[in-house]
Amino acid sequence: FAGGPLLGRRILVTSGPTHEPIDPVRYIANRSSGAQGTAIAAALAALGAEVVFVTGPADVPPPSGVQVIKVETAAQMLEAVQAALPSDAAVFAAAVADWRVASASDSKIKKKNGALPVLEFAENPDILATVSQMTEGRPGLVVGFAAETDDVIANATAKRARKGCDWIVANDVSPETGIMGGTENAVVLISETEAEHWPRMGKPEVARLLAQRIAKALAG
Ligand code: C5P
Repeated sequence: FAGGPLLGRRILVTSGPTHEPIDPVRYIANRSSGAQGTAIAAALAALGAEVVFVTGPADVPPPSGVQVIKVETAAQMLEAVQAALPSDAAVFAAAVADWRVASASDSKIKKKNGALPVLEFAENPDILATVSQMTEGRPGLVVGFAAETDDVIANATAKRARKGCDWIVANDVSPETGIMGGTENAVVLISETEAEHWPRMGKPEVARLLAQRIAKALAG
């Protein structure tokens, strides 16, 4: 193994969906497969980085050569991320549930003739924003994702500023793009000063290019 531009760099990657319990047998989830986050972790490791991979219950297996930390909920993901810091860079590719069920039931909710259960929600912590806004020990480069269905650039640009991360990788997840859960991605890399459109390509290729950009940024 000849090394690589990220040798000696510790990089945190979050990936996959989160599952938010309703009761012991039911949960709320989303359609993230974990494919893009997994590919990014693999690409960073291939460039020599020590990768800490914090993943929700994904469809795809974690890559080899990384430290895998499996979580289920957003709250657990935040805790795992905080425990994994400090790092040189952090990439937040997870599709974290925005809401959890406010008081998940400890026992299975029973059907009672015709009476429908009502779920109340509570807001989950925003892991990307929390880490981006750390005043001490913030990773030198924080990269977030923005999956949007309309006004991709405008929404993602506003999101970058609001959350306080350095880059946002924005993509259009409208159903007709087939991107969510699919094998390809078409992204725009948004920094404080520019929006760079990348052509549609496989998720592993997006991951390789992003890993190279991260290596360049950490070197420069
Ligand atoms: O606000 P939105 O969910 O669109 O933001 C997406 C970005 O924020 C992704 O990078 C995602 O991993 C991160 N995020 C997070 N914690 C949340 C919600 C989103 O880290 N609770």
